[in-house]
Amino acid sequence: MPKISEALETWFLKNQRPLPWRASYRPYHIWISEIMLQQTRMDVVLAYFERFIDRFPDVRALAEADVEEVLALWSGLGYYRRARMLHAGAQHVVDRHGGELPQSVESLLGIPGIGRYTAGAIASIAYDNAAPIVDGNVARLLSRLEALEAPSGSVALSREEWELATSLVSTASSPRMLNQALMELGALVCTPSRPSCEICPLASWCEARSRGEQERFPVAGPRKASRFLRIPLYIVEDPQGRVLMRIEHGRLMDGMFHLPHGNDALLPGSNGENFRKGKLLGTFRHSITDRRIEFSAYLAEHDSSSIGESSGEWTWVDLRELGTLPHPSYVKKALRLLRG
Ligand code: ADE
Repeated sequence: MPKISEALETWFLKNQRPLPWRASYRPYHIWISEIMLQQTRMDVVLAYFERFIDRFPDVRALAEADVEEVLALWSGLGYYRRARMLHAGAQHVVDRHGGELPQSVESLLGIPGIGRYTAGAIASIAYDNAAPIVDGNVARLLSRLEALEAPSGSVALSREEWELATSLVSTASSPRMLNQALMELGALVCTPSRPSCEICPLASWCEARSRGEQERFPVAGPRKASRFLRIPLYIVEDPQGRVLMRIEHGRLMDGMFHLPHGNDALLPGSNGENFRKGKLLGTFRHSITDRRIEFSAYLAEHDSSSIGESSGEWTWVDLRELGTLPHPSYVKKALRLLRG
């Protein structure tokens, strides 16, 4: 193991990408970047990270902000629960830890929104403690390194991977470098298809590679079927060019501004009258977690004056203000069809 960790750390020092949070390794920066990276690609995160840090430069600034503003800055990153939890987490860190993120995995796990992965990332990357981390990239790399046969998504595989990550990081001269090396190597070299084994610093230790089976790992588990849905959505404009929207509450997109959608969407203030489809503006695809959706955007066949003013969860939204309001990205796609 010591040789593997040496090879990893040496490789990382030469090959790491210059990422903004690697300039200072401030714990707050590591926290934000790791939460953003959990379900979002690096290139997208880079655009959001700087804006987020500019607006909320430290834990206190985030804790004191309105959650609406946090969600608005998160618009487009998806999985909005992450933003709510980050906000709640910041308040917890101010209340219980004097505004400073704790260093141990155990204390970090007490913070809302921080699970085993994020706790390990903060403890190791920010504080250089020997805590293991396994994300998707690391999991793939370790499954190949040891040719782990347990199927993808199984508890058995996850347990083996966390054990391996634990023993690897315990031999590191810098846990910060070692854990980032595992992630970076997984992202850049040990890719899901056609991994670049010829430039991999671990090639001589890699069991899957020695068998010429690197692409068989991780072993595919049973596939979860994704659901396909067709959903109509309705755009109602008033003479000032404002668009009718609704604030929805739910597990996935709590408190976000939506366009009215669905076959049984009810007109505001009506006694059970549905939206009626007018002209079809276009269709587009959108994926959320395990759902693949084809939206059809219609101009709704209703006069704005028959709908009346904003009330309850319904609001007329000036599209120039949309950027300051939290909204899911299908809304942007639909409004692009409207504005061309
Ligand atoms: N993906 C998630 N966290 C990362 C990190 N710290 N370095 C590289 N890729 C990552």
